[in-house]
Amino acid sequence: MDAKTARETMALHKEFVLGTYAPPPLLLTRGAMSRVWDGDGRGYLDFTTGISVCNLGHCHPRVTEAIQRQAAKLVHVSNLFANENQPRLAERISRHSFGGRVFFCNSGAEANEGMIKLARKHGHDAGRHQIVCMEESFHGRTLATLAATGRAKYRKGFQPDVEGFIHVPFNDLAAVRAAVNGTTAAVMLEPVQGEGGIRPATAEFMRGVRELCAEKGILMLCDEVQCGMGRTGDYFAYQHYGIEPDAMSLAKALGNGYPIGALVVQRKLEDVLPPGTHASTFGGTPLACAAALAVFDTFEQDDVLGNCRRMSARLMERLQELQAKYPVIKEIRGRGLILGIDLGKPVSDLVVAARERGLLILFAGETVLRLLPALTVQAEEIDEAAAILDQVLAQA
Ligand SMILES: Cc1ncc(COP(=O)(O)O)c(C=O)c1O
Repeated sequence: MDAKTARETMALHKEFVLGTYAPPPLLLTRGAMSRVWDGDGRGYLDFTTGISVCNLGHCHPRVTEAIQRQAAKLVHVSNLFANENQPRLAERISRHSFGGRVFFCNSGAEANEGMIKLARKHGHDAGRHQIVCMEESFHGRTLATLAATGRAKYRKGFQPDVEGFIHVPFNDLAAVRAAVNGTTAAVMLEPVQGEGGIRPATAEFMRGVRELCAEKGILMLCDEVQCGMGRTGDYFAYQHYGIEPDAMSLAKALGNGYPIGALVVQRKLEDVLPPGTHASTFGGTPLACAAALAVFDTFEQDDVLGNCRRMSARLMERLQELQAKYPVIKEIRGRGLILGIDLGKPVSDLVVAARERGLLILFAGETVLRLLPALTVQAEEIDEAAAILDQVLAQA
């Protein structure tokens, strides 16, 4: 793309795209693995992966080929008919998690809506509908997932809130225990809080919530939308804790950029949502499932999880070197390749400074720099990012 066309495109964006997002700083036109290029042809090292979506890197050849092949064969048939990819993908998700059954949808919020409906339906006859959620959590922007989200600022102006959600401090088992009563249907949490500031659940908390839910006959729901699909070094983040949730939601990286979400439920709950109780026109199309199957092929054949763990160790080491050099760094948190650098003060200027030096990063909360490199990132790219962060932190 030439510079004039890039400018015209940005002008169209400004005029016609509804301004629900902050004005975008860049027009990105091309990507390959950990790199993207803007409309002027300038390259960037991308440690945002479209917010933990392109976990295998941009335009991963195996995913691209699968999409191209399937697009020429069959794109959509609705769920009135089976298609050849959906059951195969359900099996792959099931075998890599807790052996459950899968409902397909299109986004994280939609997967969470399904998970909330599962919990309400499960608790309905016993008069249980309330869901205990975590402060600082993020579950989506639909009305029910907003009500589940533990940050009041996102709900401002959209009241009345959907009823039936309460919030307790994350990693505070006593608070969860105190909040659960005869109307509680479920406890819902992210094993690693993403938007809220890259906070992993403690093992004590995850195991405690698991035991409490079993004891009370209520559901433990894990939102794996951001931290699932290999991001933490295991297929799913809950797997680090030696427990299983009753259901989990997936989206983001499941299709490596092709939109697809999923609700995965334990087999003992397979009758909770019988025919007619839940649906989604676009859920699990042959095309979306082809992309996600290629994602699983790549995980299985290319040791993606091993690379994630090795590169996580390297990045952690580099970040700890930076922490020793810059006392402004209060804490480094996270797991695998979802890592946060907490500066205890606003970081938006540093995101801009990194971009100017060719590194794309995000923030989480107001004070945390969020790093979400591709799980296929290479050692030299980790070192390149660390060198840019070194320059950026020198200004903090
Ligand atoms: C943990 C978590 N859950 C749900 C969502 C919502 O996903 P979507 O934007 O696909 O609706 C997000 C998005 O950032 C998320 O991070």
